[in-house]
Amino acid sequence: MIRFAVLGYGFMGVTHAGQIKRHPQAELVAVVESNPDKIKQSTQGNLGDAPEKNLLQGVAVYPTLGELLRRENIDCVSLCLPTHLHRALAVEALEAGRSVICEKPMALTLEDCDEMIAAAQHNRATLIIAQCLRFWPEYEKLKQYIDSKELGALQSLLLRRVSAPPFWSGADSWFAVAAKSGGCLFDLHVHDVDFIHYSLGRPSAVFSQGLSTASGLNHSVLTQYEFAEPLLCMAEGSWNYPLGFKMSYTAVFEKGALEYDSSRTPTLTLTRSGAQAPEPVAVEPGDGYSREYDYFISCLQRRQAPQRITPASARQSIEIALAEAQSMETREKIRL
Ligand SMILES: NC(=O)c1ccc[n+]([C@@H]2O[C@H](COP(=O)([O-])OP(=O)(O)OC[C@H]3O[C@@H](n4cnc5c(N)ncnc54)[C@H](O)[C@@H]3O)[C@@H](O)[C@H]2O)c1
Repeated sequence: MIRFAVLGYGFMGVTHAGQIKRHPQAELVAVVESNPDKIKQSTQGNLGDAPEKNLLQGVAVYPTLGELLRRENIDCVSLCLPTHLHRALAVEALEAGRSVICEKPMALTLEDCDEMIAAAQHNRATLIIAQCLRFWPEYEKLKQYIDSKELGALQSLLLRRVSAPPFWSGADSWFAVAAKSGGCLFDLHVHDVDFIHYSLGRPSAVFSQGLSTASGLNHSVLTQYEFAEPLLCMAEGSWNYPLGFKMSYTAVFEKGALEYDSSRTPTLTLTRSGAQAPEPVAVEPGDGYSREYDYFISCLQRRQAPQRITPASARQSIEIALAEAQSMETREKIRL
């Protein structure tokens, strides 16, 4: 049994708590939350109502990680804090010898990523970044088609991720502060950045255009990724969508097109070359959150370092996102 504590009981904290509670090999021992009201409040996020009811029955609540570590015997911390706090609290937990599953983005600077990696290495503790798209069934299917070449080579990939502004914790939300969330680029679009990096490798260059507020908060980004092979790749992220959230992609291969839209049923279709109509594509059950937890817990139980997302690979995705920020600012293509 892996004993967990969730840090930050906001939208994602509730989501992680739900995953821990449903898993037969995991126990939710404690929650760390600095705002006591959050424990009672209902929370909302971009995927609808979070199922928080009864999750905290029998679960201890602490105001700080230090106090939790003094009082409870836990194996692993699920870090669901605002992004600018990831480094400090991940390092504190890793230094105490605990495993950490940290929400994306890993951090907003490479220096912070490096400190987290060093803390994991020095303490021989496991660190995984919860880039849930690597585990999302429709994205897993896309990677399978890319790797297997069943439909021939991938010719173009277009990814979109659009959302209403994620200010569910109020008008003074940390999401609205560029230095805390990194704006849409680091908060939302980073999912697609990481998936592109995971499935296609490191691009040789990026060219980005974006829209930002006067205070420097990015809320829209459009990036073109250059690769050595003849492959067109582009991704859009936006916090300007009027309502809710949706993600989608169109992948055109030599012998067919795979198309995903989270707002459509069926979500995933394949149109083979010469076919008269698209066919629905079946995917594995669950979602990115349940599948990443299943994977992470099985790694912890087998005492194996997670290979599907290493801290070094998550850091490289931050490096690409930083290049995109630089491209937006300079209006130039940035080589990686
Ligand atoms: N994977 C995904 O799909 C996804 C979706 C949304 C957010 N996220 C990421 O998850 C992280 C958290 O986002 P969220 O939407 O849950 O934010 P949130 O604002 O809803 O929740 C953060 C919680 O942390 C608490 N907190 C702040 N400082 C604290 C401290 N020092 N100690 C203890 N508690 C503290 C806040 O009171 C709040 O309850 C961010 O990094 C975000 O980018 C990921």
